[in-house]
Amino acid sequence: MVEQKDDVMRISLARDVDESYDLVFGEGLFPKIASDLKETPIGSRYAIVTDSNVGELFAKELEDALMSEGLQVQTFSFEAGEKSKTVDSCMKVIGEMSGSGYGRDSAILALGGGVVGDMAGFMAVIFNRGIPYIQIPTTVLAQADSSIGGKTGVDTEFGKNLVGAFKQPWRVYLDVAVLKNLPDREYRAGLAETIKHGIIFDGNFFRYLQENIESVLGKIPESLIRIAKNNCKIKGAVVESDPHEVGLRKILNYGHTAGHAVELLSNYELSHGEAISIGMMVAGRIANKLGHFSKEDLDAQEGLLIAAGLPTKIPNAISNEDIIKVTATDKKAVGGKAMYSLPVSIGKMHDFDGKYATYVDDEVVMAALQSSR
Ligand SMILES: NC(=O)c1ccc[n+]([C@@H]2O[C@H](COP(=O)([O-])OP(=O)(O)OC[C@H]3O[C@@H](n4cnc5c(N)ncnc54)[C@H](O)[C@@H]3O)[C@@H](O)[C@H]2O)c1
Ligand SMILES: [Zn+2]
Repeated sequence: MVEQKDDVMRISLARDVDESYDLVFGEGLFPKIASDLKETPIGSRYAIVTDSNVGELFAKELEDALMSEGLQVQTFSFEAGEKSKTVDSCMKVIGEMSGSGYGRDSAILALGGGVVGDMAGFMAVIFNRGIPYIQIPTTVLAQADSSIGGKTGVDTEFGKNLVGAFKQPWRVYLDVAVLKNLPDREYRAGLAETIKHGIIFDGNFFRYLQENIESVLGKIPESLIRIAKNNCKIKGAVVESDPHEVGLRKILNYGHTAGHAVELLSNYELSHGEAISIGMMVAGRIANKLGHFSKEDLDAQEGLLIAAGLPTKIPNAISNEDIIKVTATDKKAVGGKAMYSLPVSIGKMHDFDGKYATYVDDEVVMAALQSSR
């Protein structure tokens, strides 16, 4: 009820929101997605938002599945690649959706990697002030990381992921069948965040990866499903306990402080996963120098990254000084100081009094960088 006291009126909008959602795992899930939407519609028409590569491979199959359930569906795609992750590309797709009669009764199916997921999620935030969306992640990175947690957004000239919002999906479908088409380098890069999950949260998962790296690299479906489930369990647990990244969720940034700098300084020749692999070696060494993360843990981490075909050394063309400079201006730096999330041992991160990140003296960082060459 609108309350009034003298010249002040109050609109009361306190609300309890339940944003819980299911993650569905399997191999060949498109028919299930269609039948689920037939049974529980979330819109009266569906927009598959995808990129040029994934669209070419899978959009028709997903469209056919929805149409065979009598659902209205159309595909909207943009050119693949991070450079498309802009407000302009979103507006272009939104324009096409509008032009095709899509309105506030529609829903988006985000079919693709992290770029598609972030953009399609963002469109679902702004289109008609918000419509539901479903994530159908098609890269290891997207299945392990970006499709869960509700972070959406786009890059701008002022910074990566600078504009965006939190919006949880209605559901996430993790179909491991689509990973078979992933280029090898892309696939291995995605394993970096998977290995990260083992180190930051789950030592048993780390050991599973050590023991089964052959079947993981061979994309054996049981391994892929096991990995997808473990990744989601870990990311889900972390996100549940800290949805807006004020504490525990920072452990997901393990390897990302130096990693982001290396990614940027390589002019993106290193992919995100490759850079994070190097960044984890730097952070692991920092932890080791500060008296945590034993030499055995450090060696085990490096061994698994190498077995997964990931780089662990900083390229010669990138200087230690430049890395330190870039980390200080990183979005997650506090007061111009780079923050590091650091492991105590495999499976456990340092809590730093609930902040899960700490400032580290430049000399320690410098020594860790020097040992990572
Ligand atoms: N929202 C989050 O929490 C979060 C977390 C981590 C990363 N991200 C974002 O994710 C993005 C990176 O995601 P990405 O690594 O998945 O990149 P991506 O979406 O660009 O996909 C990588 C490449 O693989 C292709 N591809 C995707 N699936 C395929 C398949 N099954 N078969 C063949 N080719 C396929 C794509 O077309 C693209 O060329 C970045 O923009 C990053 O900021 C977001
Ligand atoms: Zn990452």
